[in-house]
Amino acid sequence: MIIGFLGKGGSGKSSVSSQTAFFANQRKKPVLAIDADHNMDLSYNLSGGELPKVNYFSHSLSDLQRAVGLSDEEKYSEAFLRDNEVRFSLSPLSQQIADYSCVLNNGMRLMVAGPQTDNVLYGTHCSHSLTTPLKILLPLLNLQKDEVVIVDEKAGADGVSTGIVTGIDVGVIVLEPALHSIKAAKQIAELMDFYETPHVFVGNKITSSEDKDFIVSELGQEPAVFLMESISVKRNPSVLVPEWNDELQTLCEKVGECNQNNRLERTIEKFKRNHAFAHA
Ligand SMILES: Nc1ncnc2c1ncn2[C@@H]1O[C@H](COP(=O)(O)OP(=O)(O)OP(=O)(O)O)[C@@H](O)[C@H]1O
Ligand SMILES: [Mg+2]
Repeated sequence: MIIGFLGKGGSGKSSVSSQTAFFANQRKKPVLAIDADHNMDLSYNLSGGELPKVNYFSHSLSDLQRAVGLSDEEKYSEAFLRDNEVRFSLSPLSQQIADYSCVLNNGMRLMVAGPQTDNVLYGTHCSHSLTTPLKILLPLLNLQKDEVVIVDEKAGADGVSTGIVTGIDVGVIVLEPALHSIKAAKQIAELMDFYETPHVFVGNKITSSEDKDFIVSELGQEPAVFLMESISVKRNPSVLVPEWNDELQTLCEKVGECNQNNRLERTIEKFKRNHAFAHA
């Protein structure tokens, strides 16, 4: 299952996605973690600050285009507008994933978008282009039942509007007990509804029952779980936090329950819809 972590800046996407990855890894599930944010917090958390040598996947677009039968000039969306039999997988490991990932000491596989490239810094490419390869990879990734893919997204609605959102099975929208964090979470949820991507909310950085009440009242519903403020998450984000154990278990169950297993169909539908809109 591919789980995408979204939410307002600083709400806790990288912390919660890192803990979920540690949790799944501890339960012997094969984990592919994808760091789609240029700040690389997920990568540093999962590697304990010692990121191994890795080819940033922001450079993988041509390889993926070639793999699905597209030329460099063709738009990635073409992969979903015509019949395309190519699929990627973790077992057996597709060459394109092997080439643009590393294996961490704890056994998890990690893909990293990487920092801004010269193309972005000199203004010839938009920074969103660094994660464009995911738009091909994620929808076409065939997973075994217990394989878990964790995607740590950029802050705010950016993670949705860049189009990766149909490539995830379920979105985890992380929010803190702050008005704008909850507002952003609702906006993200609306965008995900537009693409029919299932999602759950996580209320993070909870310090009191008033925090919980505030979230429920502003969000209009109970989040899937509440996560307490944790000193260890703050100071030592590279280890599994024992006090979140029950909540992470519940989160994984609730995420599993809303998975509709229709990722590729949703992506094809989305690109057909966008294509029809653009040519109307
Ligand atoms: N439950 C928590 N308890 C204590 N500190 C937390 C908790 N969750 C997150 N933090 C802290 O809040 C800050 C932001 O967390 P994090 O980097 O996970 O958020 P983010 O949404 O990924 O941010 P960004 O938008 O910059 O990527 C970090 O300093 C982190 O240690
Ligand atoms: Mg982050």
